[in-house]
Amino acid sequence: MKNDLREAAAKARLRAYAPYSGFLVGAALRLKSGTVVSGCNVENVSYGLTMCAERVCVGKAIDQGEKAFQALAIVADTDTPVVPCGACRQVLAEFAPKLVITSWTLTGESKEFSLNDLFPLPNLGIPQVPRGT
Ligand code: THU
Repeated sequence: MKNDLREAAAKARLRAYAPYSGFLVGAALRLKSGTVVSGCNVENVSYGLTMCAERVCVGKAIDQGEKAFQALAIVADTDTPVVPCGACRQVLAEFAPKLVITSWTLTGESKEFSLNDLFPLPNLGIPQVPRGT
């Protein structure tokens, strides 16, 4: 179960568009429906517009009509597992403030985090307007 998510993230990593940093990241999000969506980082010549692998997963899930997230895996080539950046924590918290995140190195070292610990006070109190058609 956990391994399929890791494998999907590892495969996505190889599709990363990271010509500026050379740092390839893959992520995979398990939706409550059981579907897995993957994502890779997508860099830009205007560096700040880079999309992390984690946020690419969120966009894909929403476009598939799914907002219920169960688990996220991240794979990168580092000595210790990476943790999601602040922007990704904010975006993930919109949908799953207690998401379980497992981050892996290429050699198989892993660390598990709860988004709740990484981003403890998400601003979820803003009223949402009824959905338009
Ligand atoms: N990156 C991710 O995609 N996810 C992370 O958790 C860490 C950073 C990307 C952004 C950029 O393309 C590259 O890694 C270097 O920061």
